[in-house]
Amino acid sequence: MKDKTLFNTIIHADVCSGINSLPDNSISIVITSPPYWKQRDYGFKGQIGQEETPEEYIGKLVAIFRLLRNKLKEDGVFFLNIGDKYIQRYGKSYLGLIPYKLAYFMEQDGWILNDILIWYKPNHMPSSIKDRFANTYEPIFVFSKSQSNMYKKQSNVLKVKLQSSEGKHIAVYPEKLVEELLQRINIIPYSSYSMYHLLDPFAGSGTTGKVAIKHGFSCTLIEASKEYVKIIQDRCKIDDVVSIPFIDYQPVEVKEEEFKITQFNTNLPNILITDNKDEYYKALSSITNNTDIPYFLGFKEFDIGTIYQTSLINNYGLSIRNMLIVNTGDNVFPVFMITDKDKYLFNLDCIKVAHKSSIDWHSKDFTGYRVSDKLNDRFGVIVSVDETYINGFPKWVSVLWNDKSVSCEYVIYDEKDIPNIKLVCSRCNAEITNKDECSSCNAILWKDAYVSIRYEALQPKCKELKHQNIFSSDGLSFNIPVSLNHGASPGKRAILQGEYFFVGRLYDVNQKIVSNFLEYKMKEKGLSRRDIINNLPSGYRYKVEHWFRKDMGGSIPIPKDWLLLKEIIDISEYDDYVLRTCLKLQAVKPLRDGKNIGDYFEMEEGKLVEFLEKVIEM
Ligand SMILES: C[S@@+](CC[C@H](N)C(=O)[O-])C[C@H]1O[C@@H](n2cnc3c(N)ncnc32)[C@H](O)[C@@H]1O
Repeated sequence: MKDKTLFNTIIHADVCSGINSLPDNSISIVITSPPYWKQRDYGFKGQIGQEETPEEYIGKLVAIFRLLRNKLKEDGVFFLNIGDKYIQRYGKSYLGLIPYKLAYFMEQDGWILNDILIWYKPNHMPSSIKDRFANTYEPIFVFSKSQSNMYKKQSNVLKVKLQSSEGKHIAVYPEKLVEELLQRINIIPYSSYSMYHLLDPFAGSGTTGKVAIKHGFSCTLIEASKEYVKIIQDRCKIDDVVSIPFIDYQPVEVKEEEFKITQFNTNLPNILITDNKDEYYKALSSITNNTDIPYFLGFKEFDIGTIYQTSLINNYGLSIRNMLIVNTGDNVFPVFMITDKDKYLFNLDCIKVAHKSSIDWHSKDFTGYRVSDKLNDRFGVIVSVDETYINGFPKWVSVLWNDKSVSCEYVIYDEKDIPNIKLVCSRCNAEITNKDECSSCNAILWKDAYVSIRYEALQPKCKELKHQNIFSSDGLSFNIPVSLNHGASPGKRAILQGEYFFVGRLYDVNQKIVSNFLEYKMKEKGLSRRDIINNLPSGYRYKVEHWFRKDMGGSIPIPKDWLLLKEIIDISEYDDYVLRTCLKLQAVKPLRDGKNIGDYFEMEEGKLVEFLEKVIEM
């Protein structure tokens, strides 16, 4: 037998020049991992990964892989591993979904995407991040140029540990990973492996080459860095290095598409996992920002088109904070955690423990419990329970706030305690059943009439409290929570156990309705948006624009701003709807000794939903 190394070549060149030098239709398998966008600087001119924008990066790779397609055999298979990136901006960083965008544009460019594999790293880096799940996996895309190819489908998840690297190269993938991928190739029985030529166009330290050679394949390894070429020579025992002069190439122009807004779902639940694509798009179109609760949306197919569409909502005031991978045993699919871009409360250390029905609320004393009001930027303490539900849980409480005011607050025990509201036509008072037109008087909504809101009465039931009483009662001082000075009082114990009340909006306020209402009232008064801006303190332009938006980027004025708006337009009819708040009991406990559980979930769908419910109830 001939010396196999004769077939094995290192090309020291820029990736394009290297690929260009290969004969057409000569490569059976490509396994590679290009530099990830803005991850590390390889320190040479012409390197991939340091482009200004993800689009520019994607455009270059699409062009490079277009060249590569000519070199691939008709039945050839291309495994592409690439990691993602959290992109910083004012507010919460968001997951760029760059690998999926690249895969999407490669498909547009003519590639066939056969599969998306998940490389899960059981020994991933431990992480102390609290406000999202730690990343524990990377995708590997399986491309080909024709439908009939050598790819053999197996499980979508590859569990392969990270390997400490030989040599100096830090971004290596494990040899075991390359082995797993080669397992997914249909080799003709009894054929000589050396007839299958492998290519790694971003060879790095030569992991692909080392494994390929070990298993008898022949290979070509392209690498631009001289330093790494030496490492490859050493690791793969290849002496010959071919150098090829640089040739210029034109990146493909990548243009982001418009987000497809379908219909709105005004009653969007925070967790939705569906196998209906329309329902998924509808949900995606309906997420509003300005909510402090994350949304979890999943489509039960690993579909690159839907992932691409999902990625676009990062441009609409929202942040994709995680792409969770769910492996139910029969199916592997992503679930996106989507939040407001700058305002959301999420702490993995705190997941709510459901009220145990066995608790005897009558025996609990809630005075002294802390109340956190992020909507109005204040905090307080319960000074008296003035009415309870039949089961003894507080229903009306008096709260003393840190600005020394006292207020009477309604407490929710169960969602069914939320008073009803009714949406009616402002012209004829008939209940609204359709979002465009009143089915009773045919008024066009938001033109001839607006949506008026009828509330179920909610009469405050608190005793009148005098400040002196409160302060003299047990020496409450307002440096709470730490110096709540009443020994082992219920309030103090509650704080130690992580129990407190938080203030939330009583109604599930619909941003689009509020926005239409503001616009209606503004026009009624003959004012323009500019007039509104001019009548508000300086610096409100940006906020006002968001209040009037009806797409996903819209937001609801916070209470303080609502009061300012009321001085300009007559919007008091919506006061209760927008301003009304309630208290909810929050019991927190650490999820698991400070360790971030990561973004890969092996569980049944039902269990996952149960878990996510706990997560959003925080
Ligand atoms: C993520 S590393 C590959 C690591 C490899 N899979 C391993 O296990 O060692 C990417 C490699 O691409 C190389 N590279 C970056 N830009 C290049 C270019 N324009 N042409 C050729 N190689 C390039 C870098 O030098 C780096 O070694």
